[in-house]
Amino acid sequence: KQDEIILAIETSCDETAVALVKNGTEIMANVVASQIESHKRFGGVVPEVASRHHVEQITVVMEEALQNAGITMEDVTAVAVTEGPGLVGALLIGVNAAKALAFAHGLPLVPVHHIAGHIYANRLITEMKFPLLALVVSGGHTELVLMKEHGSFEVIGETRDDAAGEAYDKVARTLNLPYPGGPHIDQLAQDGEPVLNLPRAWLEADSYDFSFSGLKSAVINTVHNAAQRGEIIKPEDLAASFQASVIDVLVEKTARAAREHHVKQVLLAGGVAANKGLRAALEAKFSDLPYELIIPPLNLCTDNAAMIAAAGSIAYQKGKRADWALNGVPGLDL
Ligand code: KG4
Ligand code: ZN
Repeated sequence: KQDEIILAIETSCDETAVALVKNGTEIMANVVASQIESHKRFGGVVPEVASRHHVEQITVVMEEALQNAGITMEDVTAVAVTEGPGLVGALLIGVNAAKALAFAHGLPLVPVHHIAGHIYANRLITEMKFPLLALVVSGGHTELVLMKEHGSFEVIGETRDDAAGEAYDKVARTLNLPYPGGPHIDQLAQDGEPVLNLPRAWLEADSYDFSFSGLKSAVINTVHNAAQRGEIIKPEDLAASFQASVIDVLVEKTARAAREHHVKQVLLAGGVAANKGLRAALEAKFSDLPYELIIPPLNLCTDNAAMIAAAGSIAYQKGKRADWALNGVPGLDL
């Protein structure tokens, strides 16, 4: 085989995804079956519902990916799969599908960390230059990750309570917006002014950690107090004020960490990277700083399997392999 073709599977949460990526960077197929419609009426992801959907979708999505790429399993070099973190029942569907596929075709099985995948989404659009700093903001994670070389991840800051996306989704619920709330808050914020004085959790002066639960509670209290007084707060202004608080902290800490670690690149990763306000604020901040800022297109920011293939390609080249005992690990460390 001349080209390295990785077939990757991602089922850690509510997207059933399969991708085929050539030589670590070239997307041949990237199929994502979203379950959002099924979870909407519950206001969040229901683990049992997610697992059931993955079971129904996985072979369909896999066949569609091979068809889109115009290849067969004969052309595939290795199978990569998200090992964790995520919902255990959801992870297990992908892990078992990957095992079956690798076993049946005599291919190596490569385990991938979901957050490594989010970071490596950037490799699909540009060459990664080290040392680099990745700001990972998703529904389950808010992390600053320092990378000195491929496959090496140092978490220098993380959330102490809610993830950024989780805070967005909870605030959206307070405003009676549908799940997932992040994009709705983002949209409202475009038409509002950040007039409300909401807290920013800077934590200790030298800390790169985050905390969003205080901000979330402040938003909820503000809404309830206003209702009791019979006042009306414009949802647009509330969204804009909340978003400004989140973005201020994310952007400041990212810039400070980039400076301290003399990085070449700053990468944005994870579902919240789709946020228009965050993208604009990072671009403004980094326009006159000496670090290259990379922001992936929206479809590579939210959960997908192309990012798992990009990370899987590096892991494959470094000789990382799983055996047939591979399990889904909900709390896997990066
Ligand atoms: O990375 P992702 O697809 O799944 C996880 O691994 O968690 O991220 C999903 C999260 C959700 O919390 C969603 O509300 C948030 O990303 N999100 C956004 C936006 N688009 C998605 N948050 C803020 N603004 C957005 N435009
Ligand atoms: Zn994710």
